[in-house]
Amino acid sequence: VSGQKLFGIGDLAEDVGIESAMDEAGTVSIEFAPDGHRSVFARSWLVGYATGGPGIDQRTEDAKALWSAPQLDLVALAGSWPRLRSESGHRERCLDRLLRLGFVRLSEVPVRPGAVLDVAAEFGFVRETNYGRVFDVRVTPAATNLASTSLPITPHTDNPYRDPVPTLQFLHCLVNEADGGDSGLVDGFWVAARLRELDPSAFAILTRTPVPFRYADGSTDLTASGPLIAVDPRGRIRGIRFNNRSMCALRLPVDEAARFYAAYRAFAALLVAPQAQVDFRLVPGDCVVFDDTRILHARTAFAADGRRHLQGCYADIDAVESQLRVIRRSTRDGR
Ligand code: OGA
Ligand code: ZN
Repeated sequence: VSGQKLFGIGDLAEDVGIESAMDEAGTVSIEFAPDGHRSVFARSWLVGYATGGPGIDQRTEDAKALWSAPQLDLVALAGSWPRLRSESGHRERCLDRLLRLGFVRLSEVPVRPGAVLDVAAEFGFVRETNYGRVFDVRVTPAATNLASTSLPITPHTDNPYRDPVPTLQFLHCLVNEADGGDSGLVDGFWVAARLRELDPSAFAILTRTPVPFRYADGSTDLTASGPLIAVDPRGRIRGIRFNNRSMCALRLPVDEAARFYAAYRAFAALLVAPQAQVDFRLVPGDCVVFDDTRILHARTAFAADGRRHLQGCYADIDAVESQLRVIRRSTRDGR
């Protein structure tokens, strides 16, 4: 049922070849050499496999719709939590937006602590971390993390100090009565592609220089390293790791260090260019879901005594791809 093979490559003859092929009435029959084994393929399966399916990495820029802020219509893209739960068409659109644009914003999630876990469960499986299954973003006295202050937070991806980095992040708004505290999202793939266009050597440096990140407090000491722009073996953009707060000093020969920092500076400048960031304000019940290996998120400063409380959690995006494939499979089969 699952298509798993019950033999290994070593069980096959080394000189496997096609003896004959017959293409008729929607099926292609193959006789293989040297043992005369016959296989019958649906033509549609072969065509589908040639143009999509497991051979194609869904995480690279090629499978995404890259965006800059002026190209987005946030109203048209709005998702609704009750509709996602009750209408399969709306669910499919929300999952598709999350995969292609890198984010989806849902309204009308119950304004209740912990509700973000219910949202995460509809998309995938919660990734528990040292911050817990759920983490709170609100001002706390003697904060050890920038999250727990009212200071602005510039565009970043979370968790660069983990290996593997959780690929999905959820931020659910419970209270937002403070002056300030607006949200922003940036498509890191779009900005990386722009850097590749404007300054190809800076792009290349950022794809091949591993950067160390660290988060340490009384009970935790996490470090991981990776390039700020990850590319696949064919050079296509596949991941962004960008977090000023937790980036460590690099160990590089001095001339390479100078070139790295110039490239880092160029990328950082493009990330904060006005057309890169889409701005919005979360209201209670909103939950924004995004690909933390592509989309950078930010917030403006807010009044320290203002009431603002978000809850967040992490999960992984492979489960979203899986769910969308299953939905489309049953739509296609008319089930
Ligand atoms: C963070 C963060 C978002 C916000 O703490 O890492 O991105 O809106 N917070 O407060
Ligand atoms: Zn963050």
